[in-house]
Amino acid sequence: MSEQIFADRLKAAMQLKHFKQIDLVNAAEAAGIKLGKSHVSQYVSGKTVPRDATLSFLAKILECDKEWLKNGDGKTPGSVKSAVPARDENGRRTFTKSHKLDNVLYDVRGPVVDEANRMEAEGIEILKLSIGNPAPFGFRTPHEIIQDMSSQLTETEGYSHSKGLFSARKAIMQYCQLKHIPNLSVDDIYTGNGVSELIQLSLNALLDDGDEVLIPAPDYPLWTACVNLAGGKAVHYLCDEQSEWNPDIADIRRKVTDRTKAIVIINPNNPTGALYPVEILQEIVEIAREHELMILSDEIYDRLVMDGLKHVSIASLAPDLFCVTYSGLSKSHMIAGYRIGWMVLSGNKALGRDFIQGLNMLSNMRLCSNVPAQSIVQTALGGYQSVETYLVPGGRIYEQREFIYKALNDIPGISVVKPKAAFYIFPKMDAARFNIKGDEKFALDLLHDRHILITRGGGFNWPEPDHFRIVYLPRVEVLGEAMKKFADFMKTYRQ
Ligand SMILES: Cc1ncc(COP(=O)(O)O)c(C=O)c1O
Repeated sequence: MSEQIFADRLKAAMQLKHFKQIDLVNAAEAAGIKLGKSHVSQYVSGKTVPRDATLSFLAKILECDKEWLKNGDGKTPGSVKSAVPARDENGRRTFTKSHKLDNVLYDVRGPVVDEANRMEAEGIEILKLSIGNPAPFGFRTPHEIIQDMSSQLTETEGYSHSKGLFSARKAIMQYCQLKHIPNLSVDDIYTGNGVSELIQLSLNALLDDGDEVLIPAPDYPLWTACVNLAGGKAVHYLCDEQSEWNPDIADIRRKVTDRTKAIVIINPNNPTGALYPVEILQEIVEIAREHELMILSDEIYDRLVMDGLKHVSIASLAPDLFCVTYSGLSKSHMIAGYRIGWMVLSGNKALGRDFIQGLNMLSNMRLCSNVPAQSIVQTALGGYQSVETYLVPGGRIYEQREFIYKALNDIPGISVVKPKAAFYIFPKMDAARFNIKGDEKFALDLLHDRHILITRGGGFNWPEPDHFRIVYLPRVEVLGEAMKKFADFMKTYRQ
């Protein structure tokens, strides 16, 4: 038995039961057991360990497994995991990450990216098809935005209202009106440091331990990560590749339980580039209505739609339900680094009165979002939308999509659904042909062999190892070079 470790376990068990040393002494006296103050003090300080009979008493009074208390074996009391400090081989306390992170995954910047960074540090040039950040690929911020932000910098030095500047929220409200999002006022709009902050904030406000949230597979993994981090349980429903990656309605129905609190949709979708037709949205609304679910809709790509299609906000179809719609300027205005997003509450807000109090509390706690970035929301959302020139024939995003779609489909063993929106594509590998067993291995092999960085499908909570995501933001010439190398790699690749 290691004395030091025993002391840690004893202290952790005492802490959990809110016992002080004197409480142990008093309890022992009441039970007719000889246990002096100095004994307890020695156990707690790690100077000595108790005899078996005393150990039995301590385990009983502290309501923990005797074997665990004695030597760390046996059943660990639930939350004691984090209460016992970790130690290195020299007995020094070490600092481990929180157990809240046990089920959290964010592979968009995970181990394969770490390896790419290590290789880059060695001077190897890596072709990155992995992160949806427009600026490094030559998509520059519209000039008017830079100008307007510069001219307002001196007026945006202080904190704003925690939900954001009135002018920004008014512009967002008007934008939402054009999208027929019902029953909202300026008060229902919260700005954030990107949609990312608001996803985390709203899930923290909503979820109790064990609450379930339906999330698409594949997903943008921040959603799953934030549900788990908030103590909830992410339950994935499938999106169907055979049906242009639309949500599988029957699967959603199968996955609803009496613990389900909300359903998340990502429309347009990252990583598939799907844009959901109104009929599918209506079916999702119907399920939410039937099971009294909150709808959380991530629409950050709603202004990046191609082929003359129109994005429909699911909130516009659900005036009787409580909906939260998320969007921002990171992608549509190529200002991912400025950090500005928003979330909008709409529909039957009376259903979420208490939740809204939680949102307000968390929003107040973070004071406000980046104020210079809020100051250009009005400029960005009104008038001419330069992003549209990228999305039509001759425009960069459109032409890059046409190119990557054809190039991938031309590779034997690779098939892919044509994306309708955003700038991602999610190809499928013929797992039998390439003998694919693990997608992380595939991503690492491609990185090491051809210096191309993609993101494995599992990083988007896709259950099979047979998909990966490409960000097609690089120019056609660069994509062309990448696809030549990739096609060559796949000719002989077998796992
Ligand atoms: C679907 C989706 N939601 C949210 C975000 C985060 O966006 P923001 O820059 O506003 O935090 C991203 C970023 O890639 C995304 O793809």
